[in-house]
Amino acid sequence: MMGNTELLLLVDDDVDNLKILSGLLKREYRIKVARGGREALRLAEGEPTPDLILLDVIMPEMDGYTVCERLKSNPRTRDVPVIFLTGKTEAEDEARGFQAGAVDYVAKPVNPPVLWARVKAQLALAAQLRHAREELSEADHRISRVTDERDRIEIRRRRLYEQQQALLAIARAALLDLSLENYLGIVLEVLEAVPWLKVDARGMLFLTNRKGELIQVAQRGLGEAQRPARAKALAGSCVCDRARVEMKPLFFSRLSDCLGNRLQVDADDAGCHALPLIEGNRVYGVLAILSPPEAQPVEETSQFMADVADIFTNLVRRRQMEETMRISRLEVQMARNEIVQKLGVAAEFRDVETGLHVLRMSQYARVVARVLGCDEATCALIELAAPMHDVGKIGIEDRILRKPGKLTDEEFAAMKQHPIIGGRILEGDDPLIRMGREIALTHHEKWDGSGYPNGLSGEEIPFSGRVCAVADVFDALTTKRPYKEAWPLEKAMALIVDGAGKAFDPKVVAAFQKALPEILAIKVRYQDDAINPGDVLPAPSAHANGNVWLPWRDSYSVGIDIIDEHHRYLLDWTNRVYQAVHESAGTVEIAKALFALEQYARIHFRAEERLMAAHDHAGLELEQHRRQHRSFETELRELREEIGHNPFVVGMGMVEYLRDWLFSHILDTDKQSLAKLADLA
Ligand SMILES: [Fe+2]
Ligand SMILES: [Fe+2]
Ligand SMILES: [Fe+2]
Repeated sequence: MMGNTELLLLVDDDVDNLKILSGLLKREYRIKVARGGREALRLAEGEPTPDLILLDVIMPEMDGYTVCERLKSNPRTRDVPVIFLTGKTEAEDEARGFQAGAVDYVAKPVNPPVLWARVKAQLALAAQLRHAREELSEADHRISRVTDERDRIEIRRRRLYEQQQALLAIARAALLDLSLENYLGIVLEVLEAVPWLKVDARGMLFLTNRKGELIQVAQRGLGEAQRPARAKALAGSCVCDRARVEMKPLFFSRLSDCLGNRLQVDADDAGCHALPLIEGNRVYGVLAILSPPEAQPVEETSQFMADVADIFTNLVRRRQMEETMRISRLEVQMARNEIVQKLGVAAEFRDVETGLHVLRMSQYARVVARVLGCDEATCALIELAAPMHDVGKIGIEDRILRKPGKLTDEEFAAMKQHPIIGGRILEGDDPLIRMGREIALTHHEKWDGSGYPNGLSGEEIPFSGRVCAVADVFDALTTKRPYKEAWPLEKAMALIVDGAGKAFDPKVVAAFQKALPEILAIKVRYQDDAINPGDVLPAPSAHANGNVWLPWRDSYSVGIDIIDEHHRYLLDWTNRVYQAVHESAGTVEIAKALFALEQYARIHFRAEERLMAAHDHAGLELEQHRRQHRSFETELRELREEIGHNPFVVGMGMVEYLRDWLFSHILDTDKQSLAKLADLA
């Protein structure tokens, strides 16, 4: 009961007055009393706040007006109604009292019914006021709640719109044929422009290789020093690898807090969104987007980032498929070239022992064509078609083809059929086959018209036939055949030079002389009989050691000139693979260089093994050496398969592997195995 009754504060310096007042009011109200202004203020400001104050005007130390003004200036007590108790003398000061904030006056000495009526009336009025104020503030709250809600909806609507625009812009990029680096650039720029996303236009793209490792294939906005082109992300430790394993977008507000993280971008720290690129249940890679350190995601961020990852996955997958198609086309081309070569080798096999003749003579032909001003495509076509020049020998009897001695007239007449037979075999519209046919038919024609099968002369003989004639004869002269020894270079060149204007086109002979150093380098690299450790290079190496990744150094020498030239050529191809990767030259260029390296490594390994076998190196040492060669060949083949699977992931890691293998093999195994042979020289 008491708890619900109103609390009155009675203020008077006269104790008797206080007794009378409280005696009149205590039955209906709770009462507190104060004997002066300061005490009144202290009680009014304390708990609980009185519901009404009866305040004497004349008091020592602080009068009622001052107390009232203080009460009205304090927000805690401002709304407590104050009734002044006044003697007759103060009646004229009523105005001042109202000014100070009082609501009423009761004259002293008090008339009890008047006092009760006034107090009751003021309490009721105050209660009404309080109620009205409460309703008003409740209404205010409702209004502000509605306003807040409206603002939130507006923000959400705007963010949704910005999300749609950003996703559209990213999807539109798919229509352009760009590199992964450019796609990454577009995505980062679009996302940076979304204000609430708070990301930087900096990031990295990783794709998974066949082993599931993440390989960095593109980056944007990071310093050149932080550009480990196509480097691997360390499994497990990297934030990106965590996103790959967990298969969901992850956010890290500070990379420096992630132990073992490899994305440390520069001196400043950064936050990072790691978005796995998922299709079906496979993770194709991870897109890492950097943000300012401590930037916090908003409500929409995670769903939006998942949408970005979806669209980007499509984009990357499409590019990957296109690139895989390009590589497949290249593989088909390479397979075709290999078949053409094998076809030439097959015909030749019945004639001489190894298959390197066609490789040598076709490269001679290419070099000569280039010196004579042919464009790259024509040179390449001549090189590819030249191996088919003797395909017609398939139609010549073994008895004639393998006869060690001189042919009879009749046998020679049969032999002269091989260009015609070759022409018949190479029937077709394909440019390569057409060129092969032209060479097969005319490589035995002579400039002065004394050749066969058609006795063409001068420029009646197709250009390719004139070039291949010199290349073919030079190789036949300078290599060992069943019926003859290899001629010394001087003797062979004398015959070629003497043939200018008779057997050969004089311009082709001049070009051949000019290209001789290069031709001799080819001869050395593709030598088919066992290398003699004592042979020195017939010409200074044609290699420039300028600004290449792995320049040749004399300390790499194993002491055998020709093997050194082989190794120099292997480094050459490794440099070309490196350059293609480093310049992001496109996967087809990388694959081409890698395939060429693979092909030449095989040729070199065989030559080295022949050399070792010929010099009493048979047995365990040769066997171990051979095993090393084979394991590298296997690695190269697997790399080729990797490129076929996902062309983008083949990168710097691969190039470094090639370099490390070559150096450790050349400087250790080769030097050891070949040192003894070098001593023989
Ligand atoms: Fe021939
Ligand atoms: Fe070797
Ligand atoms: Fe070697």
